[in-house]
Amino acid sequence: MSTTGGNTAADQLREALAKPMFNAVLKTWVGAGTTDYEVYVRTGELLSLQTEIGQLTDPDELMFQIVHQAQEVWLKLLSHELAGVVGELDRDALWEASARLDRVIRIAECLAGELRVLETMTPDTYQVIRRSLGNGSGQESPGYNAVLTAADQVAAALDRLLDRRGIRVVDVYAQWAVPPHDLKRVCELLVEFDERFQLWLVGHFMMVRRTIGIGHGVNALDGVPTRVLTGRMTKPLFRSLWQLRDELTAGWRREGGYAPGAARKAHAGCTGTSSSQG
Ligand code: HEM
Repeated sequence: MSTTGGNTAADQLREALAKPMFNAVLKTWVGAGTTDYEVYVRTGELLSLQTEIGQLTDPDELMFQIVHQAQEVWLKLLSHELAGVVGELDRDALWEASARLDRVIRIAECLAGELRVLETMTPDTYQVIRRSLGNGSGQESPGYNAVLTAADQVAAALDRLLDRRGIRVVDVYAQWAVPPHDLKRVCELLVEFDERFQLWLVGHFMMVRRTIGIGHGVNALDGVPTRVLTGRMTKPLFRSLWQLRDELTAGWRREGGYAPGAARKAHAGCTGTSSSQG
């Protein structure tokens, strides 16, 4: 079926969408890239970064390209924010680091959410689009590499912070210690971001599974078996924060609890009475 010709209502709409439009509120033309908004946001350049509608190999290719571009932009912001976290940890500005990590977590959620849009592409359509992707690999994503690089530096900054306080990371969670709440909060936010980032990759894996499959003999365009993703997607960014969980569990003793149903004493930490003991 031809998508050119300008005969149907849909064709006429596509033609209209490609031209400037009159904004009745502002009483001005929008879309030529000349208003203050368009100049600041650089919409002229931004919206010319996609393949022309008439040159798409499939109508879904625009969605495929835009999701990839949007992911790169979010990943760029993520690594920029992580550089901010490095600076904040290095100057002991833990409230600021926490606030920024809150943002970082939300960005990681955006990344995962966007993949849900890409998942609406059916496998037959991807087999068409994939012919024009060369030997491209997700490992070539500059945004992904930037986040890994930045996360390594965040981990190093956390180590420096712990050294300055003279404690090991497991001590942040130790029940005998006076809880260093600010540090514990930062550690938990880092774990939360790490989890969100892994969930993005898990979501990516599920998308790969429903798009090209993960069976034996199914390879990516660069020849890598799609199955390799299973081993990579839950590799943590902040290994020590996950290892300490294992350490806490390894050191756990059953003594001090109650048999199910047994009578219990009042516990200070649960009754509003202040206590430094956990
Ligand atoms: C239908 C769409 C997609 C398919 C079929 C797909 C497929 C694949 C496959 C098979 C791999 C593993 C082989 C390799 O590294 O070359 C991979 C890796 C990767 N892809 Fe995608 N991908 C898609 C979309 C995306 C998007 C939107 C992003 C966002 C930037 C992305 C980012 C990545 C990253 C970062 C890796 C490396 C992950 C790792 O090695 O753990 N992919 N992709």
